[in-house]
Amino acid sequence: MSDATEPGSYFVANYPPFSQWREDAAATVAAAFDAPPTDVPLGLYLHVPFCRKRCKFCYFRVYTDVAAADVERYSLALAREAKLAAARPAVVGRPLKYVYFGGGTPSFLSVKQLERLVDGIRASFGWDAAEEVTFECEPGTLSEPKVKALKALGMTRISLGVENFSDAILEANGRAHLSAEILRAWDWIAAAGFPSTNVDLIAGMVGETDASWRSTVEQTLALRPDSVTIYQMELPLNTVFVKDAKGSGSDVPVADWATKRRWVGEAFDAFGSLGYAVSSGYTLVRDPARVQFRYRDMLWEGADLVALGVASFGHLSGVHYQNEPHWDPYLAAVDAGRLPIHRGLRPSRQELCVRELVLGLKRGWVDRQRLTAKFGIDPLAAWRPVWERFAAKGWVDRLDPEPRLSRAGLLCVDSLLPSFFGPIPAAEGGGAG
Ligand SMILES: C[S@@+](CC[C@H](N)C(=O)[O-])C[C@H]1O[C@@H](n2cnc3c(N)ncnc32)[C@H](O)[C@@H]1O
Repeated sequence: MSDATEPGSYFVANYPPFSQWREDAAATVAAAFDAPPTDVPLGLYLHVPFCRKRCKFCYFRVYTDVAAADVERYSLALAREAKLAAARPAVVGRPLKYVYFGGGTPSFLSVKQLERLVDGIRASFGWDAAEEVTFECEPGTLSEPKVKALKALGMTRISLGVENFSDAILEANGRAHLSAEILRAWDWIAAAGFPSTNVDLIAGMVGETDASWRSTVEQTLALRPDSVTIYQMELPLNTVFVKDAKGSGSDVPVADWATKRRWVGEAFDAFGSLGYAVSSGYTLVRDPARVQFRYRDMLWEGADLVALGVASFGHLSGVHYQNEPHWDPYLAAVDAGRLPIHRGLRPSRQELCVRELVLGLKRGWVDRQRLTAKFGIDPLAAWRPVWERFAAKGWVDRLDPEPRLSRAGLLCVDSLLPSFFGPIPAAEGGGAG
């Protein structure tokens, strides 16, 4: 198999894959919203799809060059959608345990727009019980008053999209910011005293070299963020890089997977030497006792997630769903007082078991006891041949009492996860229907 970074998706975001979600499942999603509330934690994801510029590697639903009136209109739609969702039987009266403002670029919004948006959402959902409120920022969109406003609005975790410190690399990859803006923004973020700060990096941007990567890691270390998230550059088919390459008949010059894994491994070592602990295949955390990943962990263990905004993904009462992925239909639905559902899927119990196994494995180990108790399936017994193959390849360190990935396995975890997809092999202790 080629190790080259070819066009296509690598990162496993959910299971069953989005390609299996159906547009004719509207009634299934409606039934999920009308079901009696469950006792799992409830979270909220808000998609803010605006950016100053489209990164050439970006595969998310984003809009650039949007008129101020459209930003206003969208913010109002989010608040209206929140009201519609919060009134449904499965949601009504439930406190939010976690909130995530993602994008796109939530920090694209002005202070006034943010205050109005948060007021609008809070009119429908209380988040005083939320253990984590995360807000994604692009460095060049921040100002000192905006950072202070984010703190005052109740954000507990600021995630800054640094990606790289080389101006040449940032420019070649179509980022809107340069390194000076990172440093400026970081001073404001550090001074504001958020409970948790995160820096996003990407290993293997176009133009990356050993030296530029080392420098990016060193400069990130100097910021001393509470956590750092390191993605390996992937090239989904809808990215500018892939579309341009198709037109010119050439390949996108991104390092191969072995090199990207080596770079992430080197970053893990560098952060580790300063006391950071590995918390997943992508994240390191400075003080695991103090800083946890509530959104990640609750969602990966089966929490509900109400999704607001165009193209957002949610999960409620055991049903996956996605909102309308395009601007006009999204706004038209909300304007008409309807939840803007586009497609959905009700996974079987077995599929939910696979989902929690593969998402959990991104942390590097299997919560065997929890999965066995919840699904009546012992993940070690059910997939023993898979684990044994992984062991032979050096991807797991041990199998008992629960399978644990080696460093090599952790660095390529997303490529391992499809081995668990599909029907669960018959095994002792298996049998959840
Ligand atoms: C949804 S994006 C939002 C970033 C935010 N708008 C900003 O400008 O900083 C979240 C993160 O996904 C990661 N990401 C996006 N596209 C990627 C790709 N093609 N390969 C790897 N990581 C990617 C980046 O690290 C990025 O910070």
